Amino acid sequence: MKILFVCLGNICRSPLAEGLFQWHAQQQGLADRFTVDSCGTNGLHNGELPDTRTRKNALSHGLQLEHRSRQIQQQDFAEFDRILVMDEQNLTTVKNLCPEAFRYKIHKMRELDPIAPHADVQDPWYGGEEGFETTFQTLDRCAKAWLFHLVSNVDN
Ligand code: 4NP
Repeated sequence: MKILFVCLGNICRSPLAEGLFQWHAQQQGLADRFTVDSCGTNGLHNGELPDTRTRKNALSHGLQLEHRSRQIQQQDFAEFDRILVMDEQNLTTVKNLCPEAFRYKIHKMRELDPIAPHADVQDPWYGGEEGFETTFQTLDRCAKAWLFHLVSNVDN
């Protein structure tokens, strides 16, 4: 199963979501069942590593992020089985780009969050360091929830 995580710049939220999902899949011995990637709706940071603050925070939890930013492209909609977006703005942009036949693949990252289902993953880009830790905790919780959900349903 191929999972694509999407945010605006692909340097804060979505590369972290990708890394956390992959990490949890590995921990559960499920890594061979998933291919993960991430991208942004804009291409402003194409080719860049994740934001220094995102990488520093992730590393403090033992997670190294090496993804290079890229912009979403049309072939992603056919290629990926689930497209998980971070907020309402991403949802609108991605739905507008996506052919109708593939729109069922698009979901919000926090759809399964027991704390705030369907809420946005706030963009930490403009705020202080604590925002990056909040983002980490939110994405960690949701990555686990999606992994559990997909593994529970993938064999059906
Ligand atoms: P992200 O955060 O969408 O979580 O990667 C952002 C990073 C950079 C910009 C916007 C959002 N930017 O416009 O440069």
